[in-house]
Amino acid sequence: MPKPLSTKITSLAGSATVQVMNKARTLKQQGIDIMDLGGGDPDFDTPQNIQQAAIESMKSGFTHYVASTGIPQLRKAIAKKLAADNGVEVDPDKGIIVTPGGKMALYATIITLLNEGDEVILPEPAWVSYRPIIQLAGGVTVPVNLTPENGFSITAEMLQEKITPKTKLIIINSPSNPTGKVLTRSELETIAAAARDNDLYVLSDEIYEKIIFDGREHISIASFPGMAERTLVLNGHSKPYAMTGWRLGYIAGPASIIKEVGKIQEQAVTCAPSFVQVGGVEALEGPQDAVAMMSAEYERRRNFFIDMLNDIPHVSCFKPEGAFYAYPKFDLGLDSIKLADMLLEKARVAGTPGSAFGAIGNGHIRFSFATAPDVLETAARRIKEMLS
Ligand SMILES: Cc1ncc(COP(=O)(O)O)c(C=O)c1O
Repeated sequence: MPKPLSTKITSLAGSATVQVMNKARTLKQQGIDIMDLGGGDPDFDTPQNIQQAAIESMKSGFTHYVASTGIPQLRKAIAKKLAADNGVEVDPDKGIIVTPGGKMALYATIITLLNEGDEVILPEPAWVSYRPIIQLAGGVTVPVNLTPENGFSITAEMLQEKITPKTKLIIINSPSNPTGKVLTRSELETIAAAARDNDLYVLSDEIYEKIIFDGREHISIASFPGMAERTLVLNGHSKPYAMTGWRLGYIAGPASIIKEVGKIQEQAVTCAPSFVQVGGVEALEGPQDAVAMMSAEYERRRNFFIDMLNDIPHVSCFKPEGAFYAYPKFDLGLDSIKLADMLLEKARVAGTPGSAFGAIGNGHIRFSFATAPDVLETAARRIKEMLS
């Protein structure tokens, strides 16, 4: 009998989002017409100019290994973007690593920051990948429970009561997947003060920064006094440029930390794909109208979809301020997994169980509105019919 596999891995949960997508796919293959609102993938194509730049680069023979931290043109473009959009000054040579997807940036950074038993404060509901990656790194997730009744806001007291001598890191994600909450300047100042007072790192996941509604402003916590030296900014091309399949992300922060993160990149993947990075340069330096167009369209969908959800008996939904997810609560006394199964079987609508984003999300379902408007309308109508 071969020896058992790593318990670190066998004890790890699979991705709830992937499980929902699999279930929906199986039903679709059986010929059942499912309204699939489960994933987090923009329904737009990558803008033509970005595709063209990558194709030309590939044709010209730019198909080999490149610098492990990313091609210099892309690191320069990212540094320029961070300064212009976010007021964050980062050294393009020593403070940035371009990774194959933001997920890899997250993984490499968390593994670099944590020792066994280190505590990580995570405001929940939070994206499904933070907890498993913290667990893989030997860390302990300490949730701060946010609720729609309070607009998913965070206060100094909520943070303070979770900070212990073992706390090392706070993870924030604004605009948030799954709630759509955008952290206000005053909330960010509260988080920054807690980090400075307790000597903590902050990982700020800003991947949805360009998908923001009602004229709100995205603010990076790294731009606050005393924060650049302790903040790692995670971002990537997947969501703003509809480039999920390209796998392009990055982490930016203090050179002393980035140097260590770079070792994982070197040993695990060498580099992000060469010609993909050329597409990434065009994305950042070329025209930005496609980004504005997509964000405006998500906002338009949010407007009618949230109204339709709030019109359904037993359903209440926070109006997302950014990102492209609705996170309604179903007041039916059912747990999220049963609820998601019922929606799939009876209403033929696929959504992700809210509890996948933290126990506080039980009773919620996450729906993506990076989905065609007629699919959103049909889904909301079917749920209403089921619950009426
Ligand atoms: C909050 C958040 N951060 C990071 C990512 C990583 O995206 P990618 O690996 O495609 O760059 C995602 C993807 O769904 C996300 O929702």
